[in-house]
Amino acid sequence: MALNIPKCLELVNIDKGMTSPAAKVPYYPLVVDRGKGATVIDVDGNHYIDLLSSAGAVNTGHCHPRIVDAIKKQTENLILYTPVYMYHEPLIQLSQKLFDITPGEYRKRVFYGLCGSDANDGTIKMARTATKRKKIISFYRAYHGSTYGALSLSAVSLPMHRGLGPLLPEIHHIPYPDVYRTPYSGMDEDDVTKYCVERINELFKTCVPAEEVAAIFFEPIQGDAGLIVPPKSYVKALRQICDTYNILFVSEEVQQGFGRTGKWFGIENFDVVPDVVVMGKAIASGMPLGAVVAKAELMEQWEAPAHLFTAAGNPVCCAAACATVDVIRDEKLRENATAIGAYALARLKEMQNRFEFIGDVRGIGLSIGVDLVKDRETKERNTEAAAKICYQAWQKGLLLSFFSGSVLRIQPPLVISKDQMESALSKIEEAFEDYESGIIPDSVLETVKGW
Ligand SMILES: Cc1ncc(COP(=O)(O)O)c(C=O)c1O
Repeated sequence: MALNIPKCLELVNIDKGMTSPAAKVPYYPLVVDRGKGATVIDVDGNHYIDLLSSAGAVNTGHCHPRIVDAIKKQTENLILYTPVYMYHEPLIQLSQKLFDITPGEYRKRVFYGLCGSDANDGTIKMARTATKRKKIISFYRAYHGSTYGALSLSAVSLPMHRGLGPLLPEIHHIPYPDVYRTPYSGMDEDDVTKYCVERINELFKTCVPAEEVAAIFFEPIQGDAGLIVPPKSYVKALRQICDTYNILFVSEEVQQGFGRTGKWFGIENFDVVPDVVVMGKAIASGMPLGAVVAKAELMEQWEAPAHLFTAAGNPVCCAAACATVDVIRDEKLRENATAIGAYALARLKEMQNRFEFIGDVRGIGLSIGVDLVKDRETKERNTEAAAKICYQAWQKGLLLSFFSGSVLRIQPPLVISKDQMESALSKIEEAFEDYESGIIPDSVLETVKGW
């Protein structure tokens, strides 16, 4: 039976005539009205288990009472007095909390922004000023955001770039170590590490002098590329390269931070300490905030007004972020991400044995990708399967999406219970069966586009 969504459809129709298409990746007409924990409810009263967490921004779950309380209290006291000119306590408290949870036993400093994109832009500026070098290295298939600096770092999707140049100069892209779609067939993890390290060395030998490189922007799991988990050996080698040439190792944690992988930050899964940590999304449980924590000596090289925004680090977002850190710690959400994530990964791997179109299941904690293919040999991406399965899951009460053309994105709020995850996995399995039996009509492809 199809979902009953008259009000959703009506509202989506109105929105279609107003919102710029550049700002919407279409999945299905879900108009969210309310959310609680790992559940969202649409304007027609339908309930869904949320496997997307608002693009990984709501790790503490929707409307967590402690976050709501912190926001309410702060809103009654002070909404904004710009930290550019004056001081406020929630920001000072938050800075201390971020220093406590970010990796690295060195003296730290922080700057704030409004989102992940501008945090990346600020990091480019800071890295260039601190090192007095201009070149930046980033990875193919990375998404770092929509502002010009973040866009220049990104290399994941042509529509994101088309017609928008010139971008920031001196940004070079290298391959991310993908052990599923390997550069050549038959490569194992070590081969992939070796190959990708060689690509950096080749760059340094041919067209990019290592001593002119300020920073390498590295996601500890490459998110929008389809949740690619790198080999530990590669991450360690990258740290080594940065040490050898005095290049800053930037851990871009906008998507993997704040407990998502079972650690505060994704990079901790690889026993590597970065010089800079870039944060956004889940930092304030859905309130707009970005932050960059780095070695103090790097942050001490530039002066105002090199990087500041009127409302960045505003008291309400900082209060929400302080409560977010407390909730993740007190409610053991990292532990829950590890336990539920391991369970989901195992169940999805079982499904891989059953369904030929599942090419790969990978992830750490509650950051899991299910890569759908047309053929297990060629690994050609199966966008049609991904779109149909997401549509069908939505019909069954599951908020499921995909990215990178073929990868189902399993990133629920970290408060998700075992029962909720079990129910979500059953719905996914049913959607897989429906896809396999061919009952999901092609017409749904008009609705679900994804990216
Ligand atoms: C890894 C990564 N970096 C940066 C961003 C941009 O963050 P925002 O949309 O908050 O600007 C995203 C958003 O999807 C992301 O996944």
